Amino acid sequence: MDKLLVTGGAGFIGSHFVKRMLRADDIGHVTVLDALTYAGHIENLGEAFLSPKLTFVHGNILDADLVDTLVRQHTAIVHFAAESHVDRSFDDAGPFLLTNLLGTQTLADAAMRHGIDKFVHVSTDEVYGPLPQGSATEADPLRPTVPYAASKAASDLVALSYHHTYGVPVCVTRSSNNYGPYQHPEKIIPLFATRLLRGQQVTLHDRGQHVRNWLHVEDNCAGVELVLRGGTPGEVYNIGGGTDFTSKELTGHLLRLCGADWDSVVYVPDRRSNDVRYSMTWDKLADLGYRPVRDFEEGLAETVDWYRRNPDRWAPLMRNPHAAHTTVALTPAKEGAHAH
Ligand SMILES: NC(=O)c1ccc[n+]([C@@H]2O[C@H](COP(=O)([O-])OP(=O)(O)OC[C@H]3O[C@@H](n4cnc5c(N)ncnc54)[C@H](O)[C@@H]3O)[C@@H](O)[C@H]2O)c1
Repeated sequence: MDKLLVTGGAGFIGSHFVKRMLRADDIGHVTVLDALTYAGHIENLGEAFLSPKLTFVHGNILDADLVDTLVRQHTAIVHFAAESHVDRSFDDAGPFLLTNLLGTQTLADAAMRHGIDKFVHVSTDEVYGPLPQGSATEADPLRPTVPYAASKAASDLVALSYHHTYGVPVCVTRSSNNYGPYQHPEKIIPLFATRLLRGQQVTLHDRGQHVRNWLHVEDNCAGVELVLRGGTPGEVYNIGGGTDFTSKELTGHLLRLCGADWDSVVYVPDRRSNDVRYSMTWDKLADLGYRPVRDFEEGLAETVDWYRRNPDRWAPLMRNPHAAHTTVALTPAKEGAHAH
């Protein structure tokens, strides 16, 4: 497990995970494979990018030859790369199916050929679909309602099928909504924080009644690491234990932290599809030693402060928050891939 291949390591969660793994004494080398879509930024890796323990490969998980070459050189895979924004999946589900489903299959194929120690496939609570009451266990049926969640659910099943069929040591993690520094400002917490910090208004769908569980990105990364090290192949692990809020309650916290009031909030009709509530149990991961440790109020204050102090990082992204998808070809040109 000392040579890690991390896909999507220039994104929000992946970059936090890479930094965490570089601090671990028993991890000899980390390779990041990232296509640097609109959501991926080398700057997210900060000084880690220059670590002698890190190799960055600019390439696509759909590039079967590149993936095969990389997987052959590694002992474990942690797979974060994905199209991750629900609203974009309403506009065009195609890139979601390509990257999330076929990209996962491309990685799993290579893992099957090269006999790695562990393949952690990173997924989401959204695959369980809306739960007006109660909490989903890992054994619950998948009922995704939006194209993003459907593409993730499909990729979970494909990844697990490679365990059942070929013995690939696949584990799946499903976390709730992450928050923390370096998140793209298309997602609700950075979107609201950056708009409020600039004195702009924010829009709340349908009176802001949708409930989400908010988990600090470092707690999620700790859970993913536990699964990497101790998860049983073929098993799914929920990573929850954050704080439940309606989007209106979350907005209240952000208004306070940004020094704004409710005049900054505009109510709009609900979006095309918006699950009323997600909730999961996480007892299975607790048995591996998982406990979320980040306090929500403190973590959110730190997050808002990061956006306050780093406008150079997010302001250029805000100019074109709905930038077109990076074109993803089924057989991307090899010359698109290069490493430092
Ligand atoms: N953000 C959340 O709250 C959350 C919650 C649960 C699960 N997840 C899952 O965690 C993972 C990471 O989410 P995130 O929020 O960090 O996403 P993100 O959008 O910030 O980052 C995705 C990264 O993947 C890269 N990427 C996209 N397509 C690629 C491709 N075809 N080949 C190679 N790289 C590609 C992007 O360049 C980017 O660096 C995703 O699988 C997502 O579904 C996210």
